[in-house]
Amino acid sequence: MKTIDVCLSPELMHLYPVYDKTVVVVDILRATSCMVTAFANGVESITPFANLEECLKMKLKGYVTAGERDGKKVDGFDKGNSPFEYTDDQVRGLKVAFTTTNGTQAIEKSRGAKEIIIGSFLNLNSVAKYLLLSDHNVLVVCAGWKGKVNLEDTLFAGALVDKLKDYLGPDCDAPLAAQHLYNIARHDMVGFLSASSHVKRLNKLNIHDDMKFCLTIDQFNVLPRLKNGELRLR
Ligand code: MLT
Repeated sequence: MKTIDVCLSPELMHLYPVYDKTVVVVDILRATSCMVTAFANGVESITPFANLEECLKMKLKGYVTAGERDGKKVDGFDKGNSPFEYTDDQVRGLKVAFTTTNGTQAIEKSRGAKEIIIGSFLNLNSVAKYLLLSDHNVLVVCAGWKGKVNLEDTLFAGALVDKLKDYLGPDCDAPLAAQHLYNIARHDMVGFLSASSHVKRLNKLNIHDDMKFCLTIDQFNVLPRLKNGELRLR
């Protein structure tokens, strides 16, 4: 049986060899939810950057620059990190350079994996279907917040473990813990997360609708994958 493991924070990546694994990077609030929304709405590619200045420089190459620091749009960038900035025809055909406080850092730390795909509740089923067909063991990398564990990424990991429980076995206790947490929260994730640190942060920024949207399951049928440094659809 193939295995599934969960790295609850990018700071723990040194414990997980990834060279032979499919890594699912997740930052529910909101980086990977924005990425999935953008691809569902026809973006051509998203190039993730850990470094803000390198991302900004991509403007000179004709890229749209996007992302946030501490949840706020960066001065001089074209777009922030709300999924509602990536809907309808706002992004069709665009090449986007993207940097965020945690999500793109988690992608950076996952480089060296056999393959990297992007997960969110919005494309949960697409991720699960892909993993079922893949030959590799799986590691879910939760972006967390500045190295600390968060609830929303752990819930996504738990949802994925739960969906795949008959096909992929847990590789240690983190997937089991995530699955238990998801089963407690699954019927009211918005309510469950109301006490979480990032939801409180987002509420200060008045973006409660972003949070609700990012917790919608299976809104889109897309699977962004990292190839040659950029995310594209498979
Ligand atoms: C991140 O990557 O840290 C998040 O997406 C932050 C946010 O909600 O803007």
